[in-house]
Amino acid sequence: MSPEENLFPHQDILAQLHESLPLSDKLRFLHQVIREDFPFIDRLAIALFDEKTSMLKTYTHSTEGASPLAAYEVPLGAASSLREIMQRRRPRVVQDMSIFAHGSQEHTKRVASKGYQASYTMPLYQSDTFIGFLFFNSLKPNAFVPEALRQIDIYGHLIALMVINELTAIRTLLAAVQAARSMTHYRDVETGSHIDRTAHYARLIARELAPHYNLSDEQIEHIFMFSPLHDIGKIGIPDSVLRKPGKLDEAEFKVMMTHPQKGREIIDVILEDFSLGTFGHVSIMRNIAEYHHEAIDGSGYPKGLKGDEIPIEARISAVADIFDALTSCRTYKAPWSNDDAFAMLRRLADTKLDRDCVDAMLKNIDKVQEIQQRFRDEGVV
Ligand code: C2E
Ligand code: SIN
Ligand code: SIN
Ligand code: FE
Ligand code: FE
Repeated sequence: MSPEENLFPHQDILAQLHESLPLSDKLRFLHQVIREDFPFIDRLAIALFDEKTSMLKTYTHSTEGASPLAAYEVPLGAASSLREIMQRRRPRVVQDMSIFAHGSQEHTKRVASKGYQASYTMPLYQSDTFIGFLFFNSLKPNAFVPEALRQIDIYGHLIALMVINELTAIRTLLAAVQAARSMTHYRDVETGSHIDRTAHYARLIARELAPHYNLSDEQIEHIFMFSPLHDIGKIGIPDSVLRKPGKLDEAEFKVMMTHPQKGREIIDVILEDFSLGTFGHVSIMRNIAEYHHEAIDGSGYPKGLKGDEIPIEARISAVADIFDALTSCRTYKAPWSNDDAFAMLRRLADTKLDRDCVDAMLKNIDKVQEIQQRFRDEGVV
């Protein structure tokens, strides 16, 4: 054996998975690799289960052609056969989806209506906790033969680990931020329902904007999870300013204006200390903290960015934040009525706020009210 035959570099076909990419990019890459062996797999999709609401939500997918399901959620209780897969903890093959085409479930009808004939559905578990489903769909009937499933199962578990890794990173990050928040007086100023409302307003806007701005389900979900952190930098603002009952003077407001930059720094330290800097959409979190007080006309802070120099996630958070600040009680102000707050958003469109984000709220006043009903303040500051 020559030395060259004994020892040689190998091009690892999955090397790209080492890179710090959003999960959707990794999934798309893996899909290409899988298709080299199994060209009949036309779609991979992940739906996540939200324990709080019992909803199953589309999260990310890799699809040849248009996706039948985007920004879509369904109560798991209403998807009977999926619930059964979860309870049995075993994957399920459907060799001929046409039998579902006239079925009761909206999501199954949609998948079948795009011509998918066969599906293989794996439940995803992290330790003992159910986290969602992985779907393999094929345009060919009877595609998922047992010999193929042996290998597809391995890919399935690889994808499951990628999902778990990402969710664990996000959960760790949120827990660290939450711990930092709870160790300061900032917890007295910011209520839990403010956090929930801000998250839901931001998701409402993001979903409305998704088609036009090309926001993926994964991006929308991250905007939802991270927009409540926009003010985390306020944990670094002295109580004398943070909790001042009246109007801030100029010097005090200058101190207050450091909170976006402080927030960005706190998030960077946490990412660094927990070695989390590598998961796909950390920039969404950073940008929301740092840029949620930028204004479309450049009059905002800290950087004075203009228009679409401001990342879309920050423009979305700004509208969610201001609407909630106006309609809530603060140490320095009484709550405004919705009508007054909507009128203010309208006035701020194109100067301070992004018009598309404002319109997304104004178009969905009923949903805004639903969010307010659901997350009321109890015992306000
Ligand atoms: P916040 O309370 O979360 O308010 C977020 C943003 O909502 C504010 O950003 C502002 O754009 C808008 N907003 C809130 N209340 C009102 C209002 O009564 N009128 C109008 N026109 N806009 C309002 P901004 O101004 O950059 O303030 C950032 C943060 O500074 C506020 O966050 C709050 O924590 C603090 N702050 C601002 N003004 C005062 C004040 O007069 N007294 C005190 N104690 N804190 C203040
Ligand atoms: C999904 O693609 O997210 C759900 C599809 C299905 O029900 O098979
Ligand atoms: C259902 O009908 O409940 C789900 C079936 C599927 O997703 O394939
Ligand atoms: Fe802020
Ligand atoms: Fe705020």
